[in-house]
Amino acid sequence: MTRSDTSTPPTLDAPAIARLSASYAEARILHSAVEVGLFELLAEGPLDQDGIRGRLGLHPRLVRDFLGAVTALGLLTRAGAEYHNAPQAQEFLVPGGTHYLGARIKTAARRHYHTWGQLTEALRDGAPKAGVGGDAFATLYDDPAATRAFLVHMDANNQVVGPQLAAAVDWSAYASFVDVGGARGNVAAHLVRRHPHLSGGVFELPAVQPFFDEYMKETGLSGRVRFHAGDFFTDALPEADVLVFGHVLHDWSEVLRQELLERAHAALPPGGAVVVYDQMLDEDTPDLRSLIGSLNVALITPGGSEYTVPECRGWVEKAGFTFLSATRLEKGNDTVVVAAKTV
Ligand SMILES: C[S@@+](CC[C@H](N)C(=O)[O-])C[C@H]1O[C@@H](n2cnc3c(N)ncnc32)[C@H](O)[C@@H]1O
Repeated sequence: MTRSDTSTPPTLDAPAIARLSASYAEARILHSAVEVGLFELLAEGPLDQDGIRGRLGLHPRLVRDFLGAVTALGLLTRAGAEYHNAPQAQEFLVPGGTHYLGARIKTAARRHYHTWGQLTEALRDGAPKAGVGGDAFATLYDDPAATRAFLVHMDANNQVVGPQLAAAVDWSAYASFVDVGGARGNVAAHLVRRHPHLSGGVFELPAVQPFFDEYMKETGLSGRVRFHAGDFFTDALPEADVLVFGHVLHDWSEVLRQELLERAHAALPPGGAVVVYDQMLDEDTPDLRSLIGSLNVALITPGGSEYTVPECRGWVEKAGFTFLSATRLEKGNDTVVVAAKTV
């Protein structure tokens, strides 16, 4: 496995440490700019401060400095009295764009920011501080608006994985796959588009089905990817040559990950394979991004965290698979493990 973007610790002096301590403020400026709809508004055309304030319904007291701060962060430019989206804001922060990051930023603003505020407590008691994993999926899916927001957030998370997964596995060796915990089918859609010979499926909790159906219709793939409703801990996994677990194992404790892999091994035919992707950790070279991802999962699930490739290899081998490969994807932060059922 190759790992190219190991992070070098920054040079820390007193001002750098002070800035690090206040870096939440920069994140909050970005969150609020997205939440109030600033970039969406300026995508319609430039406006001055009063125009922005009026259209967004903002109080006059903070707006001048807020716009100045967004400009200082490089997300707006100013020409005379008028503010424009900077090119990067136009590309990544205006809804509807292919690379839109706003769904992810809104989740960070609404949920993760507050959860991270309880890191100290979590370090002491080991308990999750917000619910997504475990039974919390059932609670989340009771609310259709929250379900939609979560599934859109998942799309943003796996958007860079889909095309790369289509290239990272030798799909010519297989005729079918099921993406287990595949959300509303974004990764599955990439796979069947790129490999038309594949028959695709998503196995998900039943509440996800209407969102899956809607998304398949939107993407013109209705009928190309089949929805299998069920609970992966209690229902049999569907028949397929490949079972994919993407950003799924990290939600669960080691015991439950092992159980999922054993269930996958039982369901697959000889010659089939399991494909796992997550932000795997490198113990020798701590990588801040993966470690933040790992702490994030730990903060929102009772037993989850990221894990290393050797750990994953140990689990797949214990489940009866033959480990084939671990490939760190070039874009994003995921590693893909492939293991075959040889007997
Ligand atoms: C973190 S998301 C990952 C989504 C997608 N695979 C990705 O890479 O972005 C975990 C998914 O597992 C699904 N899930 C959670 N518990 C499940 C269960 N017991 N049975 C089936 N799916 C489940 C959730 O609905 C959710 O879509």
